[in-house]
Amino acid sequence: MHNLNLVKMLDFPQLGDERGELIVVEGGTGIPFEIKRVFYICGTKKNVIRGQHANMKTEFILINVAGSSKVRVRDGSGNEALFVLNQPNTGIYLPRMVWKDMYDFSDDSVLLCLASTHYDANEYIRDYDEFMQIVRDGNNI
Ligand code: TYD
Repeated sequence: MHNLNLVKMLDFPQLGDERGELIVVEGGTGIPFEIKRVFYICGTKKNVIRGQHANMKTEFILINVAGSSKVRVRDGSGNEALFVLNQPNTGIYLPRMVWKDMYDFSDDSVLLCLASTHYDANEYIRDYDEFMQIVRDGNNI
């Protein structure tokens, strides 16, 4: 099975009450990894495409906790899938070794990113041709 098949949307428990919303994302149970890093992307200008990389090691969950964005995921072998993130209780799981582009950010978009590793620039593949080559060579395991 290719890693693209592992990409999936996840719904998180909503524990809101008359006071408002409360949504829980728990490492290792609600999502398939322990969370090592949290970052968020906001104030994104129109027509910007973020991401544009694959990760050799890191798995991610992306959640638009406010506003909306789109995610295009590619496998380096000609297959791709598009997802819309527009609900604070819904996220996308991205396994390692998929190429991702985030785009169409709304003005109020706050994209929360949960990662399975600490940041390591060396595990990022930022050139799509190189990504395709690594996938083709099959040495990405
Ligand atoms: P970048 O990978 O371009 O963000 P995106 O995934 O949205 O395309 O990251 C922008 C800069 O921030 C780059 O210099 C790397 C740095 N950075 C960190 O130092 N730690 C992190 O956890 C992340 C995601 C980025």
